[in-house]
Amino acid sequence: MPEFETIDVLAAGGRGALTLNRPDKLNPLSSQTLREIAEAARWFDRHPLVKVVVVSGHGRSFSAGADISGFGAPAEGSLRDNADLGRLMADAVEAMNAVTVARIHGHCIGGGLVLAAACDLRVAATDAYFSIPEVDLGIPLAWGGIPRLVREIGPALTKELVMTCRPFTSEEALAAGFLNQVVPPADLDQAVEDLVARLLTKSSLTLRATKHHVDAVTRQMVGLDRSWADADSLVSALRDPESRESAAAYLDRVRKK
Ligand code: COA
Repeated sequence: MPEFETIDVLAAGGRGALTLNRPDKLNPLSSQTLREIAEAARWFDRHPLVKVVVVSGHGRSFSAGADISGFGAPAEGSLRDNADLGRLMADAVEAMNAVTVARIHGHCIGGGLVLAAACDLRVAATDAYFSIPEVDLGIPLAWGGIPRLVREIGPALTKELVMTCRPFTSEEALAAGFLNQVVPPADLDQAVEDLVARLLTKSSLTLRATKHHVDAVTRQMVGLDRSWADADSLVSALRDPESRESAAAYLDRVRKK
């Protein structure tokens, strides 16, 4: 089993698990975590017996999104390369041969929501909390988040949720088509297990064919290719004075809370 610092990866027979593992910080997606998830996704593809991978988070949340602890501070290496890591992570997860099931509890925020959107199926607890605060943080939603949301919930709701940054509930996410199932928190593990067990009874070939066929159809409707430029929008926003003011006010609110 590969060893990572910020995620846990397991494979046993047809089952796989990728679990974000910085629970004390609500599983933020740092550059390191983004690289580790992408590497884990490729590792699963080298294990063809794995049919289903559950993507989840240890602790009280799925993920509180991009790691904002050093937000706006100079990054190591190329700024653009760093800004592109989230897109590469989401693309790697989406390209996996195994069926991915996001198990969502607690916070599912910003980049965490993009990770969930890159999974094939999503099951959430009734008390999960969703929000896309990027615009308040003075950056556009990047990482291929826009086409993935348009694909799952349509353009009008995508614009509203991204532009207003208003939080939304599991019930609303279910009604919008983002979630496959919503269950009480105490039933979440069983619901995910039932779904996984059912998928494991199917042949790999037919699961894979269905996944890639649906993805090919949706790519014709909502292409991901333009997301290559998401990193450029991020870099521009980091240099935009009005967006910087917005970010400062947002970070102040989050840190004072
Ligand atoms: N990046 C880095 N650290 C984060 C984080 C993030 N996105 N979200 C939470 N944390 C850390 C907090 O700093 C805190 O660390 P500390 O205990 O060392 O102070 C810890 O996780 C717990 O967070 P806390 O804010 O105390 O929990 P809460 O339940 O009161 O609030 C949130 C949870 C998610 C609402 C709040 O933490 C928040 O708004 N986080 C920022 C979300 C965000 O903007 N993400 C980026 C999206 S692009």
